[in-house]
Amino acid sequence: MPKYAGSLLVPPPMPVTSAGAVDRYVIGVRQIRQQVLPRGLPSTTVWAYGSETAAGTHNAPSLSIEATAGRPVEVTWVNRLVNGTSGRYLPHLLPVDPTLHWANPGGGVAGRDGPPSFTSTPGPYEGPVPIVVHLHGGHSDQESDGYPEAWFLPDTRSIPDGYARVGTHYDAMAAGWAQRHGAGWAPGTQRAHYGNDQPAGTLWFHDHTLGITRLNVYAGPAGFFLLRGGAHDLEAGVLPHRGADGTPYELPLAIQDRAFRRDGSLFYPDTRAYFDEFAGPYVPHSDIAPIWNPEFFGNVMMVNGRTWPEHRVERRRYRLRLLNGCNSRFLILAMATDAAARPASPAAQFWQVGADLGFLPEPVPMQRLLLAPAERADVVVDFSGFPAGTRLFLINEGPDEPFGGGEPGDAFEWADPATTGQVMSFTVVDRVGPETSTSPEELSLPAPPPPPPAVRTRALALLEADSEVLADVGPRAAFLGTMAGAEAVPLAWDEPVTETPGLGDTEVWELHNHTEDAHPIHVHLVQFAVVDRQAPGGEARAPEPNETGPKDTVIAYPGEVTRVRAHFDKPGLFVWHCHILEHEDHEMMRPFRVE
Ligand code: C2O
Ligand code: CU
Repeated sequence: MPKYAGSLLVPPPMPVTSAGAVDRYVIGVRQIRQQVLPRGLPSTTVWAYGSETAAGTHNAPSLSIEATAGRPVEVTWVNRLVNGTSGRYLPHLLPVDPTLHWANPGGGVAGRDGPPSFTSTPGPYEGPVPIVVHLHGGHSDQESDGYPEAWFLPDTRSIPDGYARVGTHYDAMAAGWAQRHGAGWAPGTQRAHYGNDQPAGTLWFHDHTLGITRLNVYAGPAGFFLLRGGAHDLEAGVLPHRGADGTPYELPLAIQDRAFRRDGSLFYPDTRAYFDEFAGPYVPHSDIAPIWNPEFFGNVMMVNGRTWPEHRVERRRYRLRLLNGCNSRFLILAMATDAAARPASPAAQFWQVGADLGFLPEPVPMQRLLLAPAERADVVVDFSGFPAGTRLFLINEGPDEPFGGGEPGDAFEWADPATTGQVMSFTVVDRVGPETSTSPEELSLPAPPPPPPAVRTRALALLEADSEVLADVGPRAAFLGTMAGAEAVPLAWDEPVTETPGLGDTEVWELHNHTEDAHPIHVHLVQFAVVDRQAPGGEARAPEPNETGPKDTVIAYPGEVTRVRAHFDKPGLFVWHCHILEHEDHEMMRPFRVE
């Protein structure tokens, strides 16, 4: 597959359906064909968010929602995964594993009726597709948060009798919405109110359906929600944004790995052979069940829905809003003039100005940027020192396998320099108009204050089957749990809620990682401060300089305790989970309730 043959798509703003004191959107998920691979190669069937009131806006990833601090956004999310002509529901694009604990609208089978099992061999799921949308990083009320069991099917008569049309928590969330906002949810929809009473930051929205998030998100439904303004943003123009002629100098970049069949369709592996025999590109054995895999690593890199794109940049500063949107892959990014040399010699540095949910106390110059799944980095890159015609590559030195920490070429093998080791290219051209943004060295950043001191500490556990506790559950099964003294106690998704912070409390969550892998742990509702990390018997280690801003996802390294501190200020039911989507879809997700 040729690289740098197509240009980068900078997602334009999602058209607002009606603007007033609240910006309202009606956003549907539809199945469309899109040119993901370079022109000349087949197009790809994807699922795409788009405005239901503005034609031609469906795209994967989504057009970006532009939001302003203090001004709420309300979205009616619509499941339009139906055939446009017949109105019949569309089946899933990818193989669903019905042995997992998953939404399971048809009911009855493995996951629901017992613990996850690796022994049953059920048939494929061919029913309608449940969806539910979560605003990642949003300070949302519970009924707007997209609870994984508040999923819903498309509103079509073709749904077979006996199918649940909504998940177990849908009605409760809809009722909560009606109480707060005085209106109902129409069939086939979910409504959400995003108050935007939080610092400016890079949020994103994506599907969150129980047990199939990895598949739904892989098919496309994800997008940026860029929150600007308020007391914790810079004045317009201090950071690169756009030129007088509209040329974007701020580039949101959603980096994702994918695999494709020759006909252009998305490929997602469907057997355990994936990890038994993993040695590079996956070869399917479709007759082996079950079909959940503990991680996914594609062999193609995609940015904003196009493989290995190319972008022309003027000799000036750019703001990149980097998102690791991969299912499982940790990225270690650098800018190099030689795309394939390893170790890479970084040619331009990143000045990281923001973490997941807001500004850092000060800009952090970096040669290499580690980004776990779901993490965001707000960075400034200066292209002004390169002569026009220079070619720079955004390269990736992370591994083509689970990440355990350490350095590329030492603790792990870097991604294939010919494929997944390359992300996109930038060709430098002459500057049009003056540089007006502030130099990163001179920036003073409006970092939001960290959460107040904690009233309690909660010890929690990250577990995989090979951590012995779970040896009988299945290979590499992924769980969360609690610590009872020195003992880890695994807890499945549907066991009673154990984490119940009091309303208004600040807590330290101690993540005890008993596995061999690093896990990106995400907590809904809150933004947290990374407190420290500690290896057994070692000294606590301060967070990395680029983790000193507001975060919602933190890397918990193997064998260590990672501490985060968060203020729980809305009542209700939320979730925390590993953002390796395959782990989350297994059992590495738990509810918590603020009481
Ligand atoms: Cu990005 Cu619970 O998700
Ligand atoms: Cu994990």
